[in-house]
Amino acid sequence: MQTRKLGNSDLEVSALGLGCMGMSFGYGPAHDKNEMISLLRSAYEKGITFFDTAECYGPHLNEELLGEALAPFRDKVVIATKFGFLEGDSKKGLDSRPEWIRKSIEGSLKRLNTDVIDLYYQHRVDPNVPIEDVAGTIKDLIQEGKVKHFGLSEAGAESIRRAHAVQPVTALQSEYSLWWRTPEEEIFPTLEELGIGFVPFSPLGRGFLTAKIDENTQFDSTDFRNSLPRFAPEARKTNQAFVELLGKMAADRGVTNAQIALAWNLAQKPWIVPIPGTTKLHRLEENLGALDLKLSAADLSEINEAASKITIEGSRYPEHLQKIAGK
Ligand SMILES: NC(=O)c1ccc[n+]([C@@H]2O[C@H](COP(=O)([O-])OP(=O)(O)OC[C@H]3O[C@@H](n4cnc5c(N)ncnc54)[C@H](OP(=O)(O)O)[C@@H]3O)[C@@H](O)[C@H]2O)c1
Repeated sequence: MQTRKLGNSDLEVSALGLGCMGMSFGYGPAHDKNEMISLLRSAYEKGITFFDTAECYGPHLNEELLGEALAPFRDKVVIATKFGFLEGDSKKGLDSRPEWIRKSIEGSLKRLNTDVIDLYYQHRVDPNVPIEDVAGTIKDLIQEGKVKHFGLSEAGAESIRRAHAVQPVTALQSEYSLWWRTPEEEIFPTLEELGIGFVPFSPLGRGFLTAKIDENTQFDSTDFRNSLPRFAPEARKTNQAFVELLGKMAADRGVTNAQIALAWNLAQKPWIVPIPGTTKLHRLEENLGALDLKLSAADLSEINEAASKITIEGSRYPEHLQKIAGK
């Protein structure tokens, strides 16, 4: 398995991680626990050492799942989790008060069946709590041996700098894929300057870029994608242009859309570690195949040029969630 280091840190992980959210939360009902345990253990056997969860996935269910599944090889894997929502519930709004972080971590440690969290992200910047206070709390937790590395998610450049001045940030996790490239503008230069790694979430565009979703796809009524403007049926129809672009490249190379989308992501910087999510072993294997696909400079400019001619329809979040997401 190829590995990568997150920025200038000593945190070395498999070059592709595994996003675990969809196993318990977000994309319809939670999947069967035993099946997901078996999937997680297969992922480890196939060389994945970087697993992504959050207190609010479930809430709590996803951390419990990882705690059980990864226990036999806990010291061989890197577990990343997140805090920052009131009572750990993303529907209840933000809460990064130091007293909540301290409560939150105790719950996460217990559910994850561990005494230390390898990478602890603030899930969203909380406008009511100075980021210096958040970073200071994590600094204390690192000194107490409960956290190894500090991360932020969807934070802007200024927040990253302010937090990093108090406690060095190892990784930023934000959305990044061929259909959401805004981090390239201000975030990438900041991360490069400060030596911070980047962990793209939704690198497959929440599944859309894989060509397995079109305007006729019916999501479960509890699926979060029903609320995203970019996934409105009309937008999906328009946005197929993007999928077709990837499909053409995939067909020329005898690979799949998902593999092109992930190889593109990996090719952008050596300190990028995408975390595609899946609940299916055959897709996990397919996604790992992206590590063997090297896109040349000519391939990348061909993709850039073709993509620049396509306008994506629909914002990535509804307005109330856009307010707390990175710009
Ligand atoms: N920090 C944050 O705010 C934040 C936000 C969102 C996500 N995340 C993290 O990032 C991880 C990944 O993001 P994501 O799950 O939103 O999106 P993603 O990885 O872009 O896409 C996941 C979706 O793609 C499907 N899929 C995966 N591989 C496929 C393949 N080869 N062919 C066809 N379909 C495929 C999955 O369905 P199946 O399960 O049916 O395969 C799932 O519906 C999450 O699990 C979570 O850990 C973090």
